[in-house]
Amino acid sequence: MENKAKPNGTATLTVNGQSYDLPVMSGEIGPDVIDIRKLYAQTGMFTFDPGFTSTASCESQITYIDGGEGTLLYRGYPIDQLADQSNFMEVCYLLLHGELPSSKEFEDFDWTIRRHSMLHDQFDQFFRGFRRDAHPMAIMVGTVGALAAFYHDSTDINDPEARTIASHRMIAKMPTIAARAYKYSIGQPFISPRNEMDYASNFLRQCFAVPAEDYKGSDVLAKAMDKIFILHADHEQNASTSTVRLAGSSGANPFACIASGIASLWGPAHGGANEAALNMLYEIGSVDKIPEYVRKAKDKDDPFRLMGFGHRVYKNYDPRAKVMRETCHQVLDELGVRNDPLLQVAMELEKIALEDDYFVEKKLYPNIDFYSGITLKAMGFPTEMFTVLFALARTVGWIAQWTEMVEDPSQKIGRPRQLFTGATPRDYVDLSKR
Ligand code: SDX
Repeated sequence: MENKAKPNGTATLTVNGQSYDLPVMSGEIGPDVIDIRKLYAQTGMFTFDPGFTSTASCESQITYIDGGEGTLLYRGYPIDQLADQSNFMEVCYLLLHGELPSSKEFEDFDWTIRRHSMLHDQFDQFFRGFRRDAHPMAIMVGTVGALAAFYHDSTDINDPEARTIASHRMIAKMPTIAARAYKYSIGQPFISPRNEMDYASNFLRQCFAVPAEDYKGSDVLAKAMDKIFILHADHEQNASTSTVRLAGSSGANPFACIASGIASLWGPAHGGANEAALNMLYEIGSVDKIPEYVRKAKDKDDPFRLMGFGHRVYKNYDPRAKVMRETCHQVLDELGVRNDPLLQVAMELEKIALEDDYFVEKKLYPNIDFYSGITLKAMGFPTEMFTVLFALARTVGWIAQWTEMVEDPSQKIGRPRQLFTGATPRDYVDLSKR
């Protein structure tokens, strides 16, 4: 990665009667940044930004979000155009390489990914060690981290060839691992990936085929799955991507870094929101119960939040939620479950929330997780699998961001500081005197 930030004047900080000039830098689009890398050396002070609401942790050229406009670009291409006109394998190539592939480049990339989808034969022993009722995200964190135990020939992060092989292995094997986590939880035999199938169809077959009969897939559902993968592929410096970057900054191997991203994504405030949003719709149960839950969501003393609403960056409609809602309707139509009561509750809840002053003032719009749960449930996935599918799709984004970090000449180990408000120095008191 080549650093392309452009100097754009200075910002002056005056503190304790002393003024300091801090460089301002501009990117191609989006907010300028104040470069504070020398702030502590110059002033002896830290900045304070829990949750990093005003902090750019890195320079990146992969994904751009404009929260006010509701814009999301992967390498400059709008998410709705990619969802409508591209496919997940092509989006993987775009995120990793920065440009859309030629037909030869696509063919080679797609061929490689199809042929890395199998797992080491001993890998399947791992699943046997888990309880059948283990949460599949627990299985994902454990097994993806263990890939380093099987593929240590591609863990040297300083070798570009090893980085490429590890990246292809993770993109290709994530569906196989995810499908195995699901099959294991329902006590069905594992289904092997097939090289002649496209990525999404291959994954659906590994999840829903059984040896007792021929599997008949649905092109509409495979296309919907592929689109859902595209929507979830990357999203700038979100919590799990920042986790991957921080883990990678210490030089940890790529499998361990992606496993750390899966762990972070699991949280209900992040990737776990799709599971939490569907459970919330179940809890609300019917349209007449919605006002009670909207009141709870607005009550400062009530920890309840409308899962699938709100976003740290989007203060406008999440552009992915628009595509997700259309895909949701297509899937329900294909499956003949248009009158799913959960969809009725979701659509009425969205309507009420978008008209309610509290949500309007706080700019709380439905995010990608609001409709994904209904769609995935209709496709036959249990709720616990929803975040697994999010992790499957986000693997390419994590890898693209990790690669950019490793190749960034300005990157160093991430090591934030703190504002310390604990005990000041004091002498030890012997137990006999306490
Ligand atoms: C993802 O970062 C990414 O890019 C993530 C993601 C990705 O692709 O990687 O987009 C995926 O994680 C989407 C978000 C999924 N999470 C949820 O749907 C969970 C419900 N949403 C909230 O928990 C919340 O909106 C967050 C976590 C998403 C954002 O939280 P922020 O930016 O820290 O905002 P906040 O918690 O400070 O909330 C601002 C105000 C607060 O009220 P006040 O204290 O100012 O009075 O809005 C309120 C909050 O109480 N609020 C909500 C709400 N979300 C925020 N009130 C009710 N319901 C909600 N959902």
